Amino acid sequence: MPLVCVCSPKGGVGKTTITANLAYALARSGSKVLAIDFDVQNALRLHFGVPLSDGRGFVARASESADWSQSVLTAGSNMFVLPYGDVTEEQRLDFEQRLTNDSHFLTRGLSALLNYPGLVILADFPPGPNPALKAMSQLADLHLVTMLADTASLSLLPHIENHRLTGGEPLNHKAGYYFLINQSDSRRHISRDVTAFMQQRLGDRLLGIINRDESVAEANASQQSIFDFSAASAAAFDIELVSKRVAGILGIKIGDGAVHAGLRTSNF
Ligand SMILES: Nc1ncnc2c1ncn2[C@@H]1O[C@H](COP(=O)(O)OP(=O)(O)OP(=O)(O)O)[C@@H](O)[C@H]1O
Ligand SMILES: [Mg+2]
Repeated sequence: MPLVCVCSPKGGVGKTTITANLAYALARSGSKVLAIDFDVQNALRLHFGVPLSDGRGFVARASESADWSQSVLTAGSNMFVLPYGDVTEEQRLDFEQRLTNDSHFLTRGLSALLNYPGLVILADFPPGPNPALKAMSQLADLHLVTMLADTASLSLLPHIENHRLTGGEPLNHKAGYYFLINQSDSRRHISRDVTAFMQQRLGDRLLGIINRDESVAEANASQQSIFDFSAASAAAFDIELVSKRVAGILGIKIGDGAVHAGLRTSNF
């Protein structure tokens, strides 16, 4: 613990990019971090240097193994990734049915990871309602709902407020849910207007605004974090700030590597 979910009613808004870069930001601050992929696109691993040809992941083995930590890959000195993996349609459906029908399936799979001292877990989800997101609502400490500064995102705000992402249940039962506006562009009228409206409507629930920044796409293309690719970029600054706010909400110690130095990295 703690466990943070990055989700959205909308696709292509930057969930995977933000999950990966928040993981890098928290790891840079001294936390031991695990990023988990619940999206069949299996794209999160690409942000951690896992080759496209490497189809390993936890979903294909989820029906046989109750402990998903066996599928964790090391992605750096204090950074780990649990890829969804390449799966058949049958395996995907089986995984989703277990998530829907067995209320302990997710807790069992994550148990070893949730009990690992000091481990910060970030989970990435497919867009819209999905069985993994629904199952996670009981377990997660915090949800970050990612939106764009456009009218399509604005029109989906009531979906969040009416719990449409989780079939009528509250999205989060602990610290709650906060919003991120991604790809904000102050040169565009509509982006400025929507950002201002969301700031007013969401108030303290708006945890951060991340600028539209070409360095982000370029960092993704070169499989690097925004901090390694362009530490001075606007997006690097914005994501760093979001990571500090997340750490503040969850009481994660930052900037003190010594706190975590005693943890072993070989247990996964
Ligand atoms: N702040 C940003 N500035 C510029 N480009 C960005 C930014 N954030 C994300 N992108 C780009 O937007 C695209 C979508 O990002 P990403 O794949 O992370 O979205 P997603 O919400 O995970 O998508 P999906 O719903 O398909 O899972 C990518 O090409 C990414 O490089
Ligand atoms: Mg994604």
